[in-house]
Amino acid sequence: MAEYKITTPQRTYSAVVERGVVKRLAEFLPPGVGRIFAVSTRDVWKLYGCQVQQALGDRCCEVLYFVGGEDNKRLSHIEQMADQMVERGADRSSLIVAVGGGIVTDMAGFLAAIFMRGIPVIQVPTTLLAQVDAAVGGKTGVNLVSGKNLIGSFHQPLAVLIDPSVLHSLPDREYRAGLYEIIKAGVIRSEPLFRLLSDRRDEVLNQSPEVVDRMIAESVRIKAEVVSADERESDLRRILNFGHTFGHALEAETHYTRFLHGEAISWGMRAATRLAEKLEMLPPDDSEAIMHVLDAYGPIPKCDGISRVDLQVRLMRDKKTVQNRIHFVLPVRIGEVVVRSDVPIAAAQNAIEHSLADCRN
Ligand code: GLY
Repeated sequence: MAEYKITTPQRTYSAVVERGVVKRLAEFLPPGVGRIFAVSTRDVWKLYGCQVQQALGDRCCEVLYFVGGEDNKRLSHIEQMADQMVERGADRSSLIVAVGGGIVTDMAGFLAAIFMRGIPVIQVPTTLLAQVDAAVGGKTGVNLVSGKNLIGSFHQPLAVLIDPSVLHSLPDREYRAGLYEIIKAGVIRSEPLFRLLSDRRDEVLNQSPEVVDRMIAESVRIKAEVVSADERESDLRRILNFGHTFGHALEAETHYTRFLHGEAISWGMRAATRLAEKLEMLPPDDSEAIMHVLDAYGPIPKCDGISRVDLQVRLMRDKKTVQNRIHFVLPVRIGEVVVRSDVPIAAAQNAIEHSLADCRN
């Protein structure tokens, strides 16, 4: 078992990495809690609903089903779920338990953030990506047609309960999509984590329990440390966006349907790595090692039909672009990145062009 404290101005809470931790859900309920609402998709609830219900004992848990899919991560679905809560008697003492992947944890977190101006949420992430990134750190929100996560808020959960044993039911593509966020954690802050992924690929892909537990725990440790230092992304937390600036543009440009989030981040890390190499910030050997690991956990969908110019327009609309300055998170060695907002546009264009070419048929 590993437990990491996340300390923010909103609250201090634990992210617990432990096989079977869902059984302990009731321990994390606040005193005097009222109605409990689970937000989940039907397929995930079919697999884990019983465990959640059992863990809550004789407390009744109402389920709010979400259809799933990045293209459905929209405000209209939040409104529908909020209406259902009111119809079923929710009030300010109610609590939400998010059971699902990153889309569910983001949406359920946002619903909790704004329902009656805020009710508590407990995150129970069931995909690798949500376990190591999305469910930890309090970022919640929904997409707009014009861009990813452009409406949202910071709403820290009461706890994040991470059970690595649920990953066995994850489709291979979803599992690999989560691995890209772990590669990100390695590149930005942990060379040993990066080496684990590069040296023990077969065990990673075969979900060896020892390797899976280690890489999840190390990723969550890093996330807890970064969020505790900078909840609102005014400084250090920006490093968690390695690959995200380019990746979000790719997701929005393909209407959230071609790439899973992690796959888009994989492409984004490729583009950021190329850019860092072009700017002579990153030794060629490190650049090659990053590309090698990204390839080792591929493939990702092809980039056919996507134009560099359209992606650049999307980059300008990203919420990390402030006063027309794009903030790029660029590696300087494995385990360390810097944030640069003075990158010549021609270098960024070149990195996008080459990375698109790498991923075309
Ligand atoms: N996924 C990036 C962050 O949580 O800041």
